[in-house]
Amino acid sequence: MPDQNDQAASLRSANKSLAPEPAFGIKGRKSVCAVSIASGKGGVGKTFVSVNLAVTMAQTERKVLLVDADLGLANADIVLGVKTEFTMQDAIFKGKPIRDIILKTKYGVDIISASSGSKEMVSLGAARMQMFIQELLELAAEYDVILFDCAAGIDSNVTSFLAAAPHSLIVTTPQPTSLMDVYALTKIIYQNGLSNSLGLVVNMADNDGQGEAVAATLNSVMSKFLSGKIDLMGVLPSSDRVNAALKRRTPFVAEWSKDPVSIRFKQLANKLLRRAGASEDSGLDGESLLKGFISNS
Ligand SMILES: Nc1ncnc2c1ncn2[C@@H]1O[C@H](COP(=O)(O)OP(=O)(O)OP(=O)(O)O)[C@@H](O)[C@H]1O
Ligand SMILES: [Mg+2]
Repeated sequence: MPDQNDQAASLRSANKSLAPEPAFGIKGRKSVCAVSIASGKGGVGKTFVSVNLAVTMAQTERKVLLVDADLGLANADIVLGVKTEFTMQDAIFKGKPIRDIILKTKYGVDIISASSGSKEMVSLGAARMQMFIQELLELAAEYDVILFDCAAGIDSNVTSFLAAAPHSLIVTTPQPTSLMDVYALTKIIYQNGLSNSLGLVVNMADNDGQGEAVAATLNSVMSKFLSGKIDLMGVLPSSDRVNAALKRRTPFVAEWSKDPVSIRFKQLANKLLRRAGASEDSGLDGESLLKGFISNS
């Protein structure tokens, strides 16, 4: 664990480098940094990472949309202390304008939820999905960052969001079973060309070394069998405060902004924004999103 001076310096530098930039992506054109957050195994901290990353990015005056893409068990709204009234399904099946299903939170993060009805979603007709995507794309231009908090595993909805967002963050714990599931997920991502850049977040790690070891193990298997790689984007320790924040229905980084975990979120946000900024294709890809839904239904 770093000492207090190190932490303060780290926080200052993280804050400084997170200063808003007018644009990322293609030069001269504002593009959206779209990232899907996925995992092989459930319960590894995707929602924790998505929500806190979203709030961290919003703290730097970026406009952030968090799409709760876990169509089975959505809960980002709970973590952000708001109650969802309308969901993605209302937009798709009941013709509700997408703007009307967006929920604003006091943390500067807007959310779209998809609370239930995954069966309905996977058997969607192309025309309906196309309309929804069109609306989502129009909306996307109003945001700097769009994060998709996906369901665990690799069902059709997950692949759709992975395909739509050029950047993916895979969350894992250091447990060997969790790692095997990450490998299975990356295999599908690679074989189907679902993501242009894969990042790894090792959550609930005992220390940085453990996170680095996890990344090294994964990379050696991936390079051997998939000719691929995954970049370690962040290591997050376990903290009792995570569940304490959950009980208070407050995002961790809003409750304890100087905690080492919050500093890690700043560094993670920073890395992700730089990566998206450096890439030519940061934006949301509606065609891929549509393809993913249909080919998997
Ligand atoms: N770094 C951490 N330290 C301690 N507890 C954590 C940490 N990260 C997540 N948790 C706890 O682990 C549980 C699962 O986290 P979370 O809901 O974010 O996982 P998930 O991957 O989104 O799960 P699901 O697959 O069900 O969507 C929650 O109770 C959360 O508070
Ligand atoms: Mg979740």
